[in-house]
Amino acid sequence: MINMDKHQFKYAAKTVDCYFETPFSFLDELVDKAKTIIITDENIAKLYADKFDGWNMITIKAGEEHKQQFTADYVIGELINLKADKQSFIIGVGGGVVTDIAGYVASVYMRGTRFGFVPTTILAMVDAAIGGKNGVDAGVYKNLIGVIKHPEILLYDYSFLETLPKEEWINGFAEIIKHACIKDSGMFKMLEENTLETFQNDKEKMALLVKRNVLIKYNVVSNDEFENGDRKLLNFGHTIGHAIENIYALPHGNAVSIGMVVAGNISAAVNNFSSSENSRLSALLNKYHLPTTLPYDESGSEAVWNILIMDKKRSGDTMNFILLNKIGDGIVKPILLQQLKLFFNKDL
Ligand code: GLY
Repeated sequence: MINMDKHQFKYAAKTVDCYFETPFSFLDELVDKAKTIIITDENIAKLYADKFDGWNMITIKAGEEHKQQFTADYVIGELINLKADKQSFIIGVGGGVVTDIAGYVASVYMRGTRFGFVPTTILAMVDAAIGGKNGVDAGVYKNLIGVIKHPEILLYDYSFLETLPKEEWINGFAEIIKHACIKDSGMFKMLEENTLETFQNDKEKMALLVKRNVLIKYNVVSNDEFENGDRKLLNFGHTIGHAIENIYALPHGNAVSIGMVVAGNISAAVNNFSSSENSRLSALLNKYHLPTTLPYDESGSEAVWNILIMDKKRSGDTMNFILLNKIGDGIVKPILLQQLKLFFNKDL
């Protein structure tokens, strides 16, 4: 008997069936295997070859540098080779690059094919697989091309975490700390009282943490699917994070961590975020082995700035920036680019 924990996430145009604590093999009960195509990356395909026995597969290269239109084109070519049609079901099994590409391709292939995700990294479990935003980068511009479309199925099999490298655990905790900063001061305190290693070694604790974060993200997204208000809070640390990520080839979580430090400093300067809480933020990031500074030069600064102003949150000469009132309470504030540039030069 499978000890699964099923939830339904309701969005405007889609209900997502979410299966926590469910083995990958249960997928067989949810979809028609012959009509299903799994998209994964080389690492997962190799590590879990046994699990994929008998499934149609498309394997892409691992890594953010492959989250580009050329990979989506490759997947589309393979779908054509497999004679995929409107009755096909696509399942992305992997980290954020895989889920983003699988969701994006499924949304445009034949103007829309059914799809689901099995996230295999902490980052994909708590963030990338939830919310419906799927797409690719355009060169260094993160997530510039994409759609908002939710999967039909989300399946959480925590056994995939057994092979997750430590740097990927660290990466994922940046998004967990982000959720704590904007919405959940209790979780922030709980993270302060624990360590990354505790969660790595305690499967039950980790499962509860993943679920808590999925529910935070689902609640924010379902109240503001098309990002007119509260959903913007999820971009805390991401405006600067995205700008530095591809320029410095940083792991996403590391870039977001530095972005959160800068956003914390701006919050302290313009939003009465207390310096003691700002110090707690940096201390927590350090505790989870995340970086809080970026060594960089002036030419790098210019390049980062040029990317920053292409951010989707810019509107004319103003950027909607996510700040903190206090830990657990985020807010969206328009900041003039001119003012932002002052902080940007000073704080990075
Ligand atoms: N796929 C991530 C999000 O929608 O936020």
